[in-house]
Amino acid sequence: MNKNLNSFEVLNICCIGAGYVGGPTMAVIADKCRNIKVTVVDKNSKRINLWNDINLDNIPVFEPGLKEIVARVRNKNLFFTQNLKDSIKNADIIFISVNTPIKQSGLGAGFASDLKWVEKCARQIGELALGHTIVVEKSTLPVRTARVIKQILNSASTDNNSNKRTFSILSNPEFLAEGTAINDLLYPDRVLIGGEDDYAIQTLSKIYQNWVPQKKILTTNLWSSELSKLVSNAFLAQRVSSINSISALCEATGANVKEVSNAVGLDSRIGREFLNSGPGFGGSCFKKDILNLVYLCRFFNLNEVADFWYQIVLINDWQQKRIYELIVKKLFGNVDGKIITILGFSFKSNTNDTRESPAIKIANYLLIEGAQLKIHDPKVSHQQIAMDLKDFQEDKNGMSLNSWQFSKDVYEALKNSDAVILTTEWEEYKGLDWRSISKSMRKPGWVFDTRKILNGIEIKNNGLNYWCLGEGSDLEMI
Ligand code: UDX
Ligand code: UDX
Repeated sequence: MNKNLNSFEVLNICCIGAGYVGGPTMAVIADKCRNIKVTVVDKNSKRINLWNDINLDNIPVFEPGLKEIVARVRNKNLFFTQNLKDSIKNADIIFISVNTPIKQSGLGAGFASDLKWVEKCARQIGELALGHTIVVEKSTLPVRTARVIKQILNSASTDNNSNKRTFSILSNPEFLAEGTAINDLLYPDRVLIGGEDDYAIQTLSKIYQNWVPQKKILTTNLWSSELSKLVSNAFLAQRVSSINSISALCEATGANVKEVSNAVGLDSRIGREFLNSGPGFGGSCFKKDILNLVYLCRFFNLNEVADFWYQIVLINDWQQKRIYELIVKKLFGNVDGKIITILGFSFKSNTNDTRESPAIKIANYLLIEGAQLKIHDPKVSHQQIAMDLKDFQEDKNGMSLNSWQFSKDVYEALKNSDAVILTTEWEEYKGLDWRSISKSMRKPGWVFDTRKILNGIEIKNNGLNYWCLGEGSDLEMI
């Protein structure tokens, strides 16, 4: 394949990592740049096979609008493969989109990101790339990771045949939110490109200009770009923790958090986004990015700054714990042997992703307490729930203590339950028939709405108790 070093024309893009970020991002690039061949590589053969599955309902990432794009471009200019070697060799631009989980052990355990996959990718690129290659950090990374990548790549600047290879490194963080990823990619608020080399910045910018207005493409130095991603996520998570802390105060004082967030958000200086209280933020980014920020602050001895940001994670954990404690209290302090139905297992609606989902935490607390859980989610697979609850027994036949069951049918999941907890705001839960549900539940039955989407009056009129997050009642104050 030709490499066009002297022009901005890119013929081949490779992306390492066919996950929630790599898959949708590359699908949109391929759709918008039909003259570029986009190859997505992943070490996970099962994942690659699913991306190539003839039945588009089986692609491994559920995102509204994604399968339609994949249908248009797959095997035309978008390819999913395990062939890392050829994909790297042929690429003008390589995106690194591998996962960077929090380190479980060693230096920085519990806070710092584990960069072993990123380092491995850099080594593979260093070994296999030909000529000049632009390497783009797409994964969210700790600040100054670009320096690590650069050092690894520079140490591989000649191959065994003494052919010279050169690299430009860019940071191009992803701001897509799961569930709205395609829309976020098509109409981004901004595209951020950090780098030191103008040629590389312009080359990547040209690709985005195929569908993003130039004024929305922001260029910065590498470190500002890396830090901006962490700070953006920290600010968004901070708003969620702020309003969640207020939800508890609303319950205690008789205020209503929906009304408070509406009144506060109408101030144009504050804005309405990310003021929706709920069971706490989940997803692969928020917690990890704040912990990274905290680690970075501590590294530079900015302990007050670190403590400030860490509190956001603590409030998030507390929100899930307090919801669980409240449920147990309402169920007379005992859930041992009681059947509780969990509606929604993904960390938000319109995604099948369960990473850091509040439902997992709440389910864990209740299982430890002795509850029997019935779990429903419209998109999360039975297999995924089994992985998330691997410490607990799945009971496929009857219900035994500390066990859980998966149900594909929401009404089946609600049968014989003592309580229902709505944990994810799926649209289909808004239209449930509470009359028939109430008939099939044990009494006194409880409905706990952590997303504030159900019709409390209808639920109460059908003989069930209803608790809604952030809704105080004057009665509770007395
Ligand atoms: C992304 C970003 O990469 C991460 O930094 C960000 O904070 C969260 O989102 P995501 O796409 O959501 O990750 O992760 P995931 O769905 O786990 O996909 C990563 C893929 O990379 C996996 O399919 C994994 O198999 C693949 N991978 C990982 C490789 O192909 N090679 C490796 O060496 C490591
Ligand atoms: C986030 C960022 O929004 C995105 O820019 C970044 O690239 C990746 O991380 P994501 O985690 O996919 O995206 O979803 P997001 O919509 O931000 O929601 C995160 C969590 O916060 C979810 O659990 C959601 O339910 C919760 N949330 C969000 C609230 O509880 N209230 C809100 O008002 C908004």
